[in-house]
Amino acid sequence: MGKYIVEGNNRLSGEVDIHGAKNAVLPILAAVLLCDDSVRIGNCPHLSDVEAARNILAHLGRSSHWEGSSLIVDGGAPQMCDIPEKLMREMRSSIVFLGAVISRCSTARISFPGGCELGPRPIDLHLEALEKMGVKVVEDNGFLECSCEKKLKGAVINLAFPSVGATENIMLAACRADGETVIHNGAREPEIEDLAGFLNACGADISIEPNGTIHIKGVEKLHGAEYDVIPDRIVTVTYMCCSAVTAGELLLKSVNVRHLQSVMPIFEQMGCIVKANEDTIYLQAPQRLKAVKCIQTMPYPGFPTDAQAPLMAAACVASGTSIFIENIFENRFKHASEFKRMGAEIEVQGRTAAVHGVSHLHGANVKCTDLRGGAAVLVCALAAHGTTVVSETEHILRGYEDIDRRLALLGASIKKA
Ligand code: EPZ
Repeated sequence: MGKYIVEGNNRLSGEVDIHGAKNAVLPILAAVLLCDDSVRIGNCPHLSDVEAARNILAHLGRSSHWEGSSLIVDGGAPQMCDIPEKLMREMRSSIVFLGAVISRCSTARISFPGGCELGPRPIDLHLEALEKMGVKVVEDNGFLECSCEKKLKGAVINLAFPSVGATENIMLAACRADGETVIHNGAREPEIEDLAGFLNACGADISIEPNGTIHIKGVEKLHGAEYDVIPDRIVTVTYMCCSAVTAGELLLKSVNVRHLQSVMPIFEQMGCIVKANEDTIYLQAPQRLKAVKCIQTMPYPGFPTDAQAPLMAAACVASGTSIFIENIFENRFKHASEFKRMGAEIEVQGRTAAVHGVSHLHGANVKCTDLRGGAAVLVCALAAHGTTVVSETEHILRGYEDIDRRLALLGASIKKA
């Protein structure tokens, strides 16, 4: 179990480069299974979730190696069509491998992805869609036995909710299917566009209408490609929060400003000066942040659920009361009780949290409750007066490359213990 020891209340300033997006690269790594040739994925972040995806790929017969920030996955046909429970449980998003495995092998055996840290995370939408494409799904003691005819068949799929993972699984299953698949009410997150970009670079035929409808015409084969992953928009927001709570000044480089349209105005409401170019954001924070009226998480292009926890951390030290409404996940306020250990004043009722800003937080022993909650605890620790010991930091390493070193370069006092 990793720990960070943070001496808070140090102003952060300087420049930080934003690495590639975890939630873009994970489905891309599943998509690699659809190509027989090798692929080179540039701007690939060094994260424990990426290692978990590499382990799944290695089990399925695709070895990979790093060349700096590029991950090269060797070519070859899949050697296995199961994903062992241990590998499935390492990472919740392992479910997105199902669409690719069933497409290549016509059979797949996987366990349900582990845990429920954000509340129940069902996969009914994934399975219903795959069934429409000709997959027979049998549940057997926590395992899913899936099979189909030689090829999947294209289908028209109306998703009841724009689930990110379900949209990705359908896209993966549809690329080499017979005929066209149309997804109505699919997710519109930038990571979906990036997955389509990668698959098209490999020879797939995917188009996305301005209203978000996704068309995938099945092709015989996909080839290899070189592809750069988009910058991580949630990592960008997290560093903005780190700087905002320390009255800091930061230049964020290699960002995609287009992906952050729902988030930048929030920092302005909080009293920060925000100047954006195409791929940089400059943020200058005031001595004391102001509360935000109400943040409601929504599917993209709304405010992202993954940014809720870091923004709540910033609201803890703002003047006034900020309201957060979590519409995507049932149980995504676990971080609030850790913030309270540092002196935050928060009332949680169901999916709503009222944060009454305090003039300063104090150091405490706290733990990371999940990936974004963990990063948010770190934001509070940077703001707090005194020493904070943050434990269970492996959650953070799932999605943030080298965060302690990067924060230290910006002036934070943070040590691994
Ligand atoms: C993706 O999770 C992200 N993970 C999450 O990021 C992110 O919070 C989430 O999308 C929403 O933006 C990856 O991309 C790897 P969903 P996913 O399917 O695909 C319900 C992070 O911190 N639902 O859009 O699991 C579900 O329970 C992570 O980086 C069903 O009911 O999200 C949830 O309430 C955490 N049935 C809502 O939809 C289903 O079959 C959104 O889930 C599928 C989902």
